[in-house]
Amino acid sequence: MAAAAAPRRRARADFVLAWLGLCLSTAWAVDRSNFKTCDQSSFCKRQRSVQPGSSPYRALLDTLELGPDALTVHLVNEVTKAVLLLELQGLQGNMTRIRIDELKPLRARYRVPDVLVADPPTARLSISGRDENSVELTVAEGPYKIILTGRPFRLDLLENRSLVLSVNARGLMVFEHQRLPRNSFSDKVSLTFGSIWDKIKNLFSREGTKEPAEGDGTPEEEAAGKADKPEENSEKDDDEPGAWEEMFKTHSDSKPFGPTSVGLDFSLPGMEHVYGIPEHADSLRLKVTEGGEPYRLYNLDVFQYELYNPMALYGSVPVLLAHNVHRDLGIFWLNAAETWVDISSNTAGKTLFGKMLDYLQGGGETPQTDVRWMSESGIIDVFLLLGPTASDVFRQYTSLTGTQALPPLFSLGYHQSRWNYRDEADVIDVDQGFDNHDLPCDVIWLDIEHADGKRYFTWDSSRFPQPLAMLGHLAGKRRKLVAIVDPHIKVDSGYRVHEELRSLGLYVKTRDGSDYEGWCWPGSVGYPDFTNVKMRDWWANMFNFDKYEGSASNLYVWNDMNEPSVFNGPEVTMLKDARHHGGWEHRDVHNIYGLYVHMATAQGLIQRSGGVERPFVLSRAFFAGSQRFGAVWTGDNTAEWDHLKITIPMCLSLGLVGISFCGADVGGFFKNPDPELLLRWYQMGAYQPFYRAHSHMDTGRREPWLLPPEYLGPVRDALRQRYALLPFWYTLFYRAHRDGHPVMRPLWVQYPKDVTTFSQDDQFMLGDSLLVHPVAEPGARGVQVYLPGQGEVWYDVQSYQKHHGPQTLYLPVTLSSIPVFQRGGTIIPRWERVRRSSDCMKDDPITLYVAISPQGTAEGELYLDDGHTFNYQTQNEYLLRKFTFSGNTLTSSSADPRGHLETPIWIERVVILGAGKPASVLLRSEGLPESVLTFQHSAETSVLTLRKPGVRVSADWSIHLR
Ligand SMILES: *[C@@H]1O[C@H](CO)[C@@H](O)[C@H](O)[C@H]1NC(C)=O
Ligand SMILES: *[C@@H]1O[C@H](CO)[C@@H](O)[C@H](O)[C@H]1NC(C)=O
Repeated sequence: MAAAAAPRRRARADFVLAWLGLCLSTAWAVDRSNFKTCDQSSFCKRQRSVQPGSSPYRALLDTLELGPDALTVHLVNEVTKAVLLLELQGLQGNMTRIRIDELKPLRARYRVPDVLVADPPTARLSISGRDENSVELTVAEGPYKIILTGRPFRLDLLENRSLVLSVNARGLMVFEHQRLPRNSFSDKVSLTFGSIWDKIKNLFSREGTKEPAEGDGTPEEEAAGKADKPEENSEKDDDEPGAWEEMFKTHSDSKPFGPTSVGLDFSLPGMEHVYGIPEHADSLRLKVTEGGEPYRLYNLDVFQYELYNPMALYGSVPVLLAHNVHRDLGIFWLNAAETWVDISSNTAGKTLFGKMLDYLQGGGETPQTDVRWMSESGIIDVFLLLGPTASDVFRQYTSLTGTQALPPLFSLGYHQSRWNYRDEADVIDVDQGFDNHDLPCDVIWLDIEHADGKRYFTWDSSRFPQPLAMLGHLAGKRRKLVAIVDPHIKVDSGYRVHEELRSLGLYVKTRDGSDYEGWCWPGSVGYPDFTNVKMRDWWANMFNFDKYEGSASNLYVWNDMNEPSVFNGPEVTMLKDARHHGGWEHRDVHNIYGLYVHMATAQGLIQRSGGVERPFVLSRAFFAGSQRFGAVWTGDNTAEWDHLKITIPMCLSLGLVGISFCGADVGGFFKNPDPELLLRWYQMGAYQPFYRAHSHMDTGRREPWLLPPEYLGPVRDALRQRYALLPFWYTLFYRAHRDGHPVMRPLWVQYPKDVTTFSQDDQFMLGDSLLVHPVAEPGARGVQVYLPGQGEVWYDVQSYQKHHGPQTLYLPVTLSSIPVFQRGGTIIPRWERVRRSSDCMKDDPITLYVAISPQGTAEGELYLDDGHTFNYQTQNEYLLRKFTFSGNTLTSSSADPRGHLETPIWIERVVILGAGKPASVLLRSEGLPESVLTFQHSAETSVLTLRKPGVRVSADWSIHLR
């Protein structure tokens, strides 16, 4: 839920300040001026003013050392004489890691912990060539060579003598080494700021910075290292506004450690299409940012966010993918500070005609994309993921940061949320509404009003006097409840959570060591320091059933506002000079804060069951690695058609960088959708990974049965389609969990050579089997569906009509249409007896949909386990079945002999699309006599339906069409 009150509160604060005679822009509604542009973020401005050209950085090749796991070499900035240490590693599986830090930092710089699942295994580097200005390195067992050039510093990665990627080729590397403040503070203040108010603010903000490294465990100052210190003079950036403090609106950022930003550029020859770096409400394919704003990564609670711009949103994953018809590669920039990404291209702005002319004349430049990363603090730590295919890049990235957690089955069902269901009776009514209208639903959600005065882990005793009875009622319906638990804690001496956190010293601190307080929903709040493992353990314990009173095993959790959102903070978040455990500034850890909240909550739900049950936690903020802890959603969207459309590129971008469990508020959070928009959103959501309707307090009620009947029917159809496909969804999630493959993917992942697919935002694939093109236009009479693939066939899942690829198909639609196509060559499992909730269906028989390819073949798989525990991991209690159709025979075999599962599930039907009429159909199954199956064949649609094979899903069997 949004900081809906934030603009109001901020507006009030602004009013007070304006009354003090300050000139400020007031913010009464959505306001871009609440958020920084690159120019207003001093390090971004400083870095962006560095133009391509000769880099001042030189690698001192005579300092090169080659160890078993890494090569190290000193880099010197020839202007400042600052010395850096470069560490280069070849990693197993076609990856390279580059780390750059100061050789002798005044104070240790932040290295992001807890994102990598392990130290990545290295591949040995050896020197295979050398001249006076360069060294050629070979990576063991890989096709890659790396050339390190001394002056100016540059790295080139080559595969078979062709250049794949260059580092610092444009000379845009920036590494602001730490230095002692040079100017007296008053000079700087008058240099930097004009108003008297600012001077006063800064007087206060500079006070605390006399001891730059206070606090428990602060990285030690190496005052002794003076002899090695670079010269301090002749440095322009020292004097630049914002280097030692900066203002944004009324907020001052004291920068006790001065400028510490880092930046580096990467050139990608042959690449014209880049993707990733969520979260932005923008097209899937990233745009060139030169001349405009760079893409920004800084977790923020943006009130009523706008579409199609590079502004930061709630989460950040600093991973970029590049794709062309020959290969894919990725860049993973492991830095949790505010980050900006600039993208430029040598073909941008050229017309297609111009490009063709270049091509015909044979002299055209090779297309090239350049990507420049800029972060406010930390070190340079970057992983180059060299593919060569997209699925290699997915595997590489998830080998570093982990794969999607396998969700409990229920969480793939439908979720009904609202800010807020008033009381227990309301919850019971809504629950009953689903049954009365024959609509499946798994979960009802409670937003912040359920707690006593927004004191999380408690209940408002007048509205929710008997939460356990309510949870019991839902359990009886085999449904769940999700309750919100936000990471801001009401400052209230009567509130146990606050009292304990304060006395244990577990809150984030201000720069002078007192508990940091901000404003959020409950009023004045403290922010638990989730970067501290002690805090996370404490938080996890709070989910024990005896600690979280009124909770039960069918209560799951939602973490909102974890960017963190601070209504009265700069850009609605925390002051950058606030202090975390270990003495780190909020500046260093900002983008990972939300991941830690998510992590601690998931840990809590696992612990409360003694490690048996899988958790479900939804988070708004996220970072690289958040996929290990649960689901995310796209935050506070709006009931508008463009917001419906943007859900596709937003969730696709997340899937590309490991986070498959993504969804958007069905219906739109703000404003009231008309019935058509709400219906189309139900249809869209049915085919996106996380399926939850949610709405703002000021909107009208919109449970599906409040729709006119002509809309309710199609909503029911959409929900039923979702539930029928649950075995397919569950199997896709298992694949994401095992191999890192995104559940929802852009078409180009499947058709890497088809340029038509490279910038599609209106359709997507689920696995490699279903192509979905939801209707997202008001009053639509038809949609243009692109069906890719030379020699591919696609079956409309409604009409079973067969279409050949590649083609753009005009498909007429009605209100009830969801254009979905099954690719010929695939087999999809369904549960066709849709019931009240997934839990009621989990032992139901399976129907297989076999879509035959032009070659007469098809294959698919099915994953099953108990749907909720870790027994699949700890006891190998699962089934992975492989289905193959070939030579008119459908075969079921085990795809993983380690797995075993006692299950009553059987196969009740097989539907074969694109089949001729057989004379007879025989079933052979282990230990059973051969039997004849009855069937129906439609000559018109070429659909063959085999009734009641009746075989157990765990058995090996084959069906023969004669
Ligand atoms: C590494 O790259 C080579 C050449 O591009 C490729 O053949 C190989 O499969 C890749 N290995 C891995 C583990 O990705
Ligand atoms: C590089 O050479 C290897 C071995 O000859 C080959 O397998 C690979 O496809 C080549 N890669 C490229 C990009 O040409």
